[in-house]
Amino acid sequence: MITNYIVKREEKTKIVIADNAIRNLYEILNEKSHTNYVIFSDTTTYKLFGEEVKKSLEKLDKPVISYVIEPGEKNKTLSSVEKLISFMIKSNCDRKTALIGLGGGVICDMATFAAGIFYRGINCMLIPTTLLAQVDASIGGKGGVNIGEYKNLVGVIKQPNVVIIDPTTLEKLPKVQITSGMAEIIKMAIAFDKKFFSYLANVKTLNMDVLRKSIEICVTLKMKIIEKDPLEKTHVRTAVNFGHSLGHAIEIISGIPHGFAVAIGMVYAMEVSRKITGLSKKDMELAISVLQKYNLPTTISGLTKENIVEHMKKDKKNFGGNARLVLLESIGHLRVVDKIDKKIIEESLHKVLI
Ligand SMILES: NC(=O)c1ccc[n+]([C@@H]2O[C@H](COP(=O)([O-])OP(=O)(O)OC[C@H]3O[C@@H](n4cnc5c(N)ncnc54)[C@H](O)[C@@H]3O)[C@@H](O)[C@H]2O)c1
Ligand SMILES: [Zn+2]
Repeated sequence: MITNYIVKREEKTKIVIADNAIRNLYEILNEKSHTNYVIFSDTTTYKLFGEEVKKSLEKLDKPVISYVIEPGEKNKTLSSVEKLISFMIKSNCDRKTALIGLGGGVICDMATFAAGIFYRGINCMLIPTTLLAQVDASIGGKGGVNIGEYKNLVGVIKQPNVVIIDPTTLEKLPKVQITSGMAEIIKMAIAFDKKFFSYLANVKTLNMDVLRKSIEICVTLKMKIIEKDPLEKTHVRTAVNFGHSLGHAIEIISGIPHGFAVAIGMVYAMEVSRKITGLSKKDMELAISVLQKYNLPTTISGLTKENIVEHMKKDKKNFGGNARLVLLESIGHLRVVDKIDKKIIEESLHKVLI
């Protein structure tokens, strides 16, 4: 007997964007079914917000425990997730435990992954505290870890039950992290929303109001994409990876912040686009000028072409060695292109390598 069954997986995710939301978690969650709460965070983030989050959760009258790791991309590993899960087992967590990721993209990615595999899936709540995590990493349900130099190679797609974005947490964030997050914001504008791009191009001073508005627009844009293609089965979701093929390679080789690497990756993708989709020089220069306006790098020195090409091959999106890139047709319009000529892939690197 051969029968094809279609099993649909519907997931709901509630996203709250509000100043001081971390102090009112009990009101937002208002959920009685959990056995306990595990706050998963890194030392820097926990020092800043851990106690406040804990106090706010304790009002739900369930035990709240914490597991804290050292910050940094180098800790985004299977072994860190295994240690977190061992801690949860020792602490008598069960299927009704809720895991709460409190931190930047590294913590959000690992919390999503751990929640996806512990008992084959428990409730997960994310409280992103970096700009990058608030506009991107906490949205869309991708969780995972790096395997050696292979970024995010192992993971899950599992929508968080709740995402709580409290823009006031950004007041503590170092400027370099704000700049890094701006790259993902500008990415969404260049890729999907010309009007938002013009807004960013005309901003006089980058203040909290600009950040609040940008967070709301980016979350809405990304969730509309996720609703259409939650599991990245089509090119719809792949498009949010604009700038990331080269970006990931640069991030791994040079160690510069994610957003900085993505900014350089976008310039590279635009250079390839000039040759393949006919992106205009005017749009490319406009996009570069906005990246520079927000102090993002658009070139990088000290890296060799060979090293980069080798790393780009490791990108899991380059299926079976076929170079796949998200290209720009014009500001606000993307196209995903497969099997790009190797010569174009390599030659275009000159635009960003100095
Ligand atoms: N899942 C996704 O869709 C997705 C999307 C984009 C990026 N990512 C991932 O996100 C990661 C990068 O995230 P990131 O840039 O947030 O890095 P990060 O998580 O390493 O955070 C950067 C630093 O900021 C500190 N920090 C966090 N909140 C703070 C605050 N409010 N004030 C002061 N310091 C604070 C952290 O301790 C850390 O040292 C990468 O691993 C990337 O792969 C995932
Ligand atoms: Zn990114």
